[in-house]
Amino acid sequence: MRIRVFDTPDAAAAYAVALVEQTAAVYAEPVLGLATGGTMIPFYKALVQAVRQGLDLSRAWAINLDEYVGLGAEHPQSCAGFMREHLYRHVPWDGARAHIPDGCAPDLAAECRRYDRLLATHPVHLQFLGIGLNGHIGFNEPGDELVAETHLVELSETTIRSNARFFRDPGEVPRRAITMGVGGILRAERVVLLAFGEQKAEVVARALTGPITTRLPASLLQLHRDVTVLLDTAAAQKIRGKTVENG
Ligand code: F6R
Repeated sequence: MRIRVFDTPDAAAAYAVALVEQTAAVYAEPVLGLATGGTMIPFYKALVQAVRQGLDLSRAWAINLDEYVGLGAEHPQSCAGFMREHLYRHVPWDGARAHIPDGCAPDLAAECRRYDRLLATHPVHLQFLGIGLNGHIGFNEPGDELVAETHLVELSETTIRSNARFFRDPGEVPRRAITMGVGGILRAERVVLLAFGEQKAEVVARALTGPITTRLPASLLQLHRDVTVLLDTAAAQKIRGKTVENG
């Protein structure tokens, strides 16, 4: 695991884009695993800029981690809506190569299986992750058990409260989601975890240096052989006993 600490989220985002560029130089059809949420906004901003400056992602696949149950792609607060707003509106992307679970599928279990078939045929080369305040990755919430495959999940109260900031009416925040499982995440060739801000410092330190436990799903990343963690100084401030590189 490599931990890099930057002065600002924008500097970390620029580094994340360099990792996309590296991946795109290696694979004719790079498969990017993408996340939504506030942490990812500077990354997509920098990615859009890189594409405008010549980065060719026309053959790249984009496979998102998760989607709320009951929010259609047209809903602005859906994960699909987030991706449209921050990436696809700016960068033309072949719709056949841009994937996100369908939270309005009539048969949600079948939708989860469809997503796993997609992941089996398009193994992710570079998986981007944020981290929840409770240590979730994707929407794999802390618990006694974790699920390997794509599945339906009841969102925790912490997650519902934290996501309420994106909704006009906090009562509108969905309580269920479809998420890639921890198996799907850990099967990615390379994982990049981003976290910014003081409020993430505690969970980041526990995930990277504490015991590996289903009670803190991000701690499972300690088992992956190629993880890069990109932090700003605020999010890195509680890490002890691990080598961190600057910028
Ligand atoms: C969303 C996702 C979540 C977020 C996490 C952090 O697709 O996978 O795990 O990355 O909840 O969210 P922010 O960045 O809003 O703090």
